Amino acid sequence: MITLSIIKADTGGYVGHSAVHPAMMAEARREIERAKGSSLIIDGRVASCGDDVSLIMTHVYGPDAGLIHSFAWDTFQATTRIARELGLYGAGQDLLSDAFSGNLRGMGPGYAELEFEERPSEPVICFLADKTEPGAWNLPLYKIFADPFNTAGLVIDEKMHAGFAFEVYDLFEDKRIVFDCPADLYDMLMYIGAPARYVVHGVHSKTLGHPAAATSTQRLSLIAGKYVGKDDPVMIVRCQSGLPAVGEVLEPFAFPHTVAGAMRGSHHMPLLPVAVADAHTTRFDGPPRVVALGFQVHEGRLVGPRDLFDDPAFDRARAQANEMADYFRRHGPFEPHRLPLEDLEYTTMSELTRRLGHRWTPITTEVATPA
Ligand code: F6R
Ligand code: MG
Ligand code: MG
Repeated sequence: MITLSIIKADTGGYVGHSAVHPAMMAEARREIERAKGSSLIIDGRVASCGDDVSLIMTHVYGPDAGLIHSFAWDTFQATTRIARELGLYGAGQDLLSDAFSGNLRGMGPGYAELEFEERPSEPVICFLADKTEPGAWNLPLYKIFADPFNTAGLVIDEKMHAGFAFEVYDLFEDKRIVFDCPADLYDMLMYIGAPARYVVHGVHSKTLGHPAAATSTQRLSLIAGKYVGKDDPVMIVRCQSGLPAVGEVLEPFAFPHTVAGAMRGSHHMPLLPVAVADAHTTRFDGPPRVVALGFQVHEGRLVGPRDLFDDPAFDRARAQANEMADYFRRHGPFEPHRLPLEDLEYTTMSELTRRLGHRWTPITTEVATPA
């Protein structure tokens, strides 16, 4: 068995919250080379989307392994030191604790991990997104693993007829449920259509018994109790041979669906699929972006990446996303561009309520007209 882990953190932005400084990327690459040299990991890559650094690693220690998580933690401390030296923005932003203890759960960095028996040929896609939240994967995962209008294999490939099991987390109450699809499809959609709270954590093939996909499901705001940035999620999807084909996994991103997370973590915007060269944010601290890195995993080695959205086939999605961004922006501070109050993560509303509380009176009382 091998484990593919993506562990990511925002440890400082260049400029503002828009990208990662090359010196931080170089430092993370040095650490990855060291970890390969000492045989802690089999292989590793460093990638970024927006202001988040992702460590993509293969190893034999399984998910939630202390050794791997502490290595990632130390690497993020090292990139934070560089961010501090250069005065980069929000240095160490996602490192919520002073000391590492056991694994990264609840400590700030996000991670998606998948443990599997490597097949003779093992195509995987690592998705990295910025300025959005883990629930942003709900709609694409539904389409990839449950919608025959997206995934022809659900109809054509016998190995997919039995369907897929979706493990869904309730992030507010720390609970989980497994939906058996297609039987539970309509029940599941009732939940995962609310992606701020219900998030697909993983998907399993019922026929093969294999894990097929994993997402990062941390919510920094819930961990920290106050706004500390969006969770800028990552996802791993295995492809082909009884799992969705590479093209079926990419297909949902041809529709730039609306996600929460742009500007101040407080706005809906379309999710823009981009090439690695465009994986930084600009307009209105967005639009939220996603990159897709394709690998063949062979004997634990990461053969790749291929930059899968670096392709004219996604130009129409990008054009549509930009039109949608114009449309949303013209709403200014109004919903549905701005998130509904219950999803707003800044503390402004509670402060307003405290300051204006005495001026709100029952509608039945006489109103004193301001002089
Ligand atoms: C969104 C995000 C940015 C910041 C915004 C304000 O996820 O990270 O939009 O919220 O740039 O940042 P501060 O409050 O650091 O000035
Ligand atoms: Mg940031
Ligand atoms: Mg970010």
